[in-house]
Amino acid sequence: MSKMNRRNFIKAGGALLAVGSLPLTLVEIAFGKSSPENFTFAYISDSHITHIKGGTFVNNWDRGLIRAVAEANLLTPRPDFILYGGDIAQLGTPAEIDHGLEILGGLRDKVHYVMGEHDYYLDLGEHWRKKLGPDHYSFDHKGVHFVVLNSILTHDSWTNDKWDSGMARMLAMARLDNPEGSPFMVGDAQREWLSKDLDKVDKDTPVVVVSHSPLQKIYKGWNFWTDDAEQVQALLKPFKKVTVLYGHVHQIQYNQIGNISFHAAMATAWPWPYPSTYSQVESHLPKLTVEMNRADAFFERDATGWQFINMHTGNVDVHYTLPENRNRVVAFDEKTGAPVDTSYRTDADRIPPQAHY
Ligand SMILES: [Fe+2]
Ligand SMILES: [Fe+2]
Repeated sequence: MSKMNRRNFIKAGGALLAVGSLPLTLVEIAFGKSSPENFTFAYISDSHITHIKGGTFVNNWDRGLIRAVAEANLLTPRPDFILYGGDIAQLGTPAEIDHGLEILGGLRDKVHYVMGEHDYYLDLGEHWRKKLGPDHYSFDHKGVHFVVLNSILTHDSWTNDKWDSGMARMLAMARLDNPEGSPFMVGDAQREWLSKDLDKVDKDTPVVVVSHSPLQKIYKGWNFWTDDAEQVQALLKPFKKVTVLYGHVHQIQYNQIGNISFHAAMATAWPWPYPSTYSQVESHLPKLTVEMNRADAFFERDATGWQFINMHTGNVDVHYTLPENRNRVVAFDEKTGAPVDTSYRTDADRIPPQAHY
């Protein structure tokens, strides 16, 4: 994030929550005079570290994560902490997770980790938890309640009964469009935990929920989907301001459902196409979302860039800056009560997304 951008941004906004940079995202939260102090945190997601053999890993994905770590370490002001949004690994092997964590170990700040399906389905998260601890937890930071969920669980019968090996299970879940996969869910036990956790929180306290899959239903065929999303949303409904940040979809998405603003982050590895442009099937991409254009699939950092989120009185504005693509600003609009793309709202202004079929 350039100092110039940050200065203009703060001058323009009275910034309440600011996010900078994809593959890295810096989040700044300020909640007005009654709040003790403003702070920033960074958000990095979906590195998909891929082991080839021995000490060799797919270079491009290593480079995306290495760049995000380097940028995070150079941020001014210093972020208070880092959130990692899940999918460190491609096939969940100890070699991939350890290599990813070695790169992430270069970060100067504390990291809070989210479980992705690529980290989980080989050994049901055993190695990840051994290295990183519980896969769902909450913490309070300077007046904001953060909740991290493991949203990529599924039916026990699918997880436990169908497979000869963990790798067969992982390969079924790792593919984007594998009909052998199974819908993601947060699950009864974690929703019960969430309900108890939120009971202790004042309803005026801003809540930031971080999940790997979207806590809304977009396209089941690719698991841009959480089966019990509505039940999780219902638990968040009593709160004045809720923001859900998620990874997994590797693209810009935003939505507003009741009191909840949703924002997706891009990956450090690669961007996914939008479901409708690729498989010609119905998806429920939020009507609010204007799809991003992917002009050059051969540019290795295509669909990565810089992003600010500005949270006015608890509502989120996102400023995306995309190298070799056109910048985007998704700002909360008081009139509509939802995030709005400030440049591409009208059909005439839109850049059509690249068709893949
Ligand atoms: Fe991913
Ligand atoms: Fe994922």
